[in-house]
Amino acid sequence: MERINRILDPTRTGSEAEKLESDLRKRVVGQDEAIRQIIDVYQTFLAGMSSAGRPIGNLLFLGPTGSGKTRMVEAVAESLVGDARAVVKIDCAEFQHSHEIAKLIGSPPGYLGHRETHPLLSQEALDQYQTDKVKLSFVLFDEIEKASDSLWNLLLGVLDKATLTLGDNRRVDFSRAVIFLTSNLGAAEMQALLRPNLGFAAGDAERRQTGGMVDAELTGKMASAGMEAARRKFNPEFLNRIDKVVVFRPLGTAELRKVLGMELNLVQQRIFSTASSTPFVFSATEAAKDYLLREGTDLKYGARHLKRAVDRNLVHPLSNLMATGQVRGGDLIRVDCDASGSHLTFIKEAEDVAIQAMLQMVDGSIAPPPVMAAASAVEEPKMVAHAKGSRR
Ligand SMILES: Nc1ncnc2c1ncn2[C@@H]1O[C@H](COP(=O)(O)OP(=O)(O)OP(=O)(O)O)[C@@H](O)[C@H]1O
Ligand SMILES: [Mg+2]
Repeated sequence: MERINRILDPTRTGSEAEKLESDLRKRVVGQDEAIRQIIDVYQTFLAGMSSAGRPIGNLLFLGPTGSGKTRMVEAVAESLVGDARAVVKIDCAEFQHSHEIAKLIGSPPGYLGHRETHPLLSQEALDQYQTDKVKLSFVLFDEIEKASDSLWNLLLGVLDKATLTLGDNRRVDFSRAVIFLTSNLGAAEMQALLRPNLGFAAGDAERRQTGGMVDAELTGKMASAGMEAARRKFNPEFLNRIDKVVVFRPLGTAELRKVLGMELNLVQQRIFSTASSTPFVFSATEAAKDYLLREGTDLKYGARHLKRAVDRNLVHPLSNLMATGQVRGGDLIRVDCDASGSHLTFIKEAEDVAIQAMLQMVDGSIAPPPVMAAASAVEEPKMVAHAKGSRR
């Protein structure tokens, strides 16, 4: 044996964990600490080092509404098993009474309706989304501060022993599940910390220059505010079963703008995936984006209402334009805001745009539209003159 003294780097992750990390960064804005914690759990799992007889990970997400807690869970499922909906989701507020708990675990044999109930938390329900490659399940308990005592007891068992006994005594094994729990606890306290920074949320470049609290300091204070609220509400018995507590930060204006970019990209992807023949492309001006941000975001509700504002102001008018033949396949549509800033305007900039040119205009970084993927395999992409500079 030759003695060496090489310093190793335990912060490096393997390629699978790296892929998950980059996927999550593409989908979730401004929550790097949460991503880091998820990667730790996943890397431990991949290395086969997760504790036996417990879920793969028990993660508690705290923080304000519309900051990406639920989106993060969907993004993990999307990256690992290819479907954002591959999550068993339990809204704790819906399971207050014992007959509602029966929806989760089924009723004991002999009870009325025993045969008709299909428990939400059965082994089949848990395993249904696993793929040959990824034998993992994702379970999300939303708004746990609203859980009734009986749901709470059920939850403690799952977190600790990774098992649940159904009404008919069958056992459900959670040892291949990642359990996500979310709560808005501490959100009010976090918001109060932001208020002195008048109008600026964490992450804003402007605030860093105001001489106010520095970013790291504010983020740290918000994390402790979240943790303190959790300690006040939840007993140590519960908190000891949690592997990671992650405090999500309220999103600042720059981050909300990025989220809008993602939402617009998703609309464009939808146009591609639903178009029966040639799709059309739209590009939103900065003024149009400002309008959508005013309509759909604020520092209190984060990006909660953004999707609705995009649907109302962009998707519905576009659908009308399509239904009336004003917008057709091959069109390039500029979405702008009128001079008074009161509504969006739609202008046709070009017709008969080649599909390869469209490919150049859309952001394929999340999921390349299937129509486009097929087209690009046939011919090399070319830009047409009138489409130049229209890229979003
Ligand atoms: N950090 C983020 N990155 C990307 N998109 C986000 C982010 N935060 C919010 N969104 C967008 O806003 C929508 C609502 O966010 P999400 O459901 O994740 O909020 P939440 O934190 O779970 O809030 P609540 O506490 O009300 O459940 C998402 O579907 C997504 O479109
Ligand atoms: Mg949520």
